[in-house]
Amino acid sequence: MKKRFYIETYGCQMNEYDSEILAGILQSHNYILCDSAEEADIILLNTCSVRDNAELKIHSRLGELKHLKDKNPDLKLGVVGCMAQNLKKELIDTKPYVNLILGPDSYRDILKHLGAEEAHVIDTKLSKFEVYDGLFPARKEGVNAWISIMRGCNKFCSYCIVPYTRGRERSRSIESIVDEAKRSVDEGFVEITLLGQNVNSFDHEGDKFPALLEALTKVDGLKRLRYTSPHPQDVDEELMRIHAEYKPLIANHIHLPLQAGSDAVLKAMNRTYTQEHYLKLVDMIRKHVPDMGITTDIIVGFPGESDADFRETLKVMEYIKYDNAYTFKYSPRPYTKAWNMKDNVSELDKSARLTELIKMQKAHTLERLSQMIGKDVEILVETRSKKSSEEMRGRTACNKIVIFPKENYKPKDMITRRITDAQGVTLFSREK
Ligand code: SAH
Ligand code: SF4
Ligand code: F3S
Repeated sequence: MKKRFYIETYGCQMNEYDSEILAGILQSHNYILCDSAEEADIILLNTCSVRDNAELKIHSRLGELKHLKDKNPDLKLGVVGCMAQNLKKELIDTKPYVNLILGPDSYRDILKHLGAEEAHVIDTKLSKFEVYDGLFPARKEGVNAWISIMRGCNKFCSYCIVPYTRGRERSRSIESIVDEAKRSVDEGFVEITLLGQNVNSFDHEGDKFPALLEALTKVDGLKRLRYTSPHPQDVDEELMRIHAEYKPLIANHIHLPLQAGSDAVLKAMNRTYTQEHYLKLVDMIRKHVPDMGITTDIIVGFPGESDADFRETLKVMEYIKYDNAYTFKYSPRPYTKAWNMKDNVSELDKSARLTELIKMQKAHTLERLSQMIGKDVEILVETRSKKSSEEMRGRTACNKIVIFPKENYKPKDMITRRITDAQGVTLFSREK
């Protein structure tokens, strides 16, 4: 009888892609993907370690899944991804009902590991070469296909566990990425989002990120090209020239993690840029692509962050007025340089800073959205609106959600409509 598997994915888009790679391997070997843990013979949790609460979530999910193992001892329960890499054997020591621990570079061998006789299999070796070339991901039907173009990170920001869970940077060839893009478009995807921990640090034998983007603009049938996340260090004028030249096919959106505004904190974080450098970079981006949607990641409460340091973050936000920001409280991570620094900003201060920052960002988000009212924009239609069966949802190139009447639109249509209203984080186009 064919075995059924179920994958639950946590963390970033890289994990989403990796889960599709795993599903691709299993499906091409007669395993069947199912919709719930209860029906499965194999359960895989693809996990994240970026903050402590990401791991806590998995611990509690494993606790819930234990009763399925109690009922069915043949069930294989696997933990894969960054937390598997981070905790390794420790996970099995504390949760002996877990059978499989696979790090992010071990997926090629999943079939061998699933077939093993042992109750526990641990494979967490990191590779300098693994980019999963030659494996085609099993994607869910939809508008957007993720394509991982590079893996790993060499930046070693002092707070971040990713270089330890994902290993060193390595890139695929332009040829294999273009092949995957063509295949994805043939399968019906109209948007591609290139992925990498530092997507623009892409470097395959001297081929750099702008060249890759340019090559992908030639893929017939592609309606929109995105990428995430670039590191500010590797954003240059050439990249922006490519953006300007291939607009709107290359979407006018950039996710540019700031992390902190104060030079002292940036230095302690090992972010390799100063506030001034970052602001100039944003000026340069806006010179080439004036309507670029700019989003960011910000951490509050890094060790030693004073109130004055925090005000510098607000100052940068006030200058840039981000379209959106993902905001986090600092969470100490093992192995990292900051792990040995005193986590000396109180929980109360972290919360107060986060609240202030979110309040400011909400106002900026609405201000940015409101600037679009009255404008005609291109919208890639995604799906039905959650709230109303008479409406649909799509996305602008600058990555904003728009709600509009369904008329005769279908998912994957590229349409042009006038924006009539903005509320919260959403745009509306309710008349033509
Ligand atoms: N490679 C990407 C981000 C990966 S992690 C980049 O450099 O942009 C996603 C975000 O999580 C980071 O941008 C950072 O803001 C946040 N993050 C990472 N480690 C963290 C930690 N220890 N505590 C709080 N937030 C963290
Ligand atoms: Fe983490 Fe920094 Fe690498 Fe991003 S660039 S994954 S924040 S170490
Ligand atoms: Fe998390 Fe790993 Fe992504 S730690 S954010 S799943 S690279």
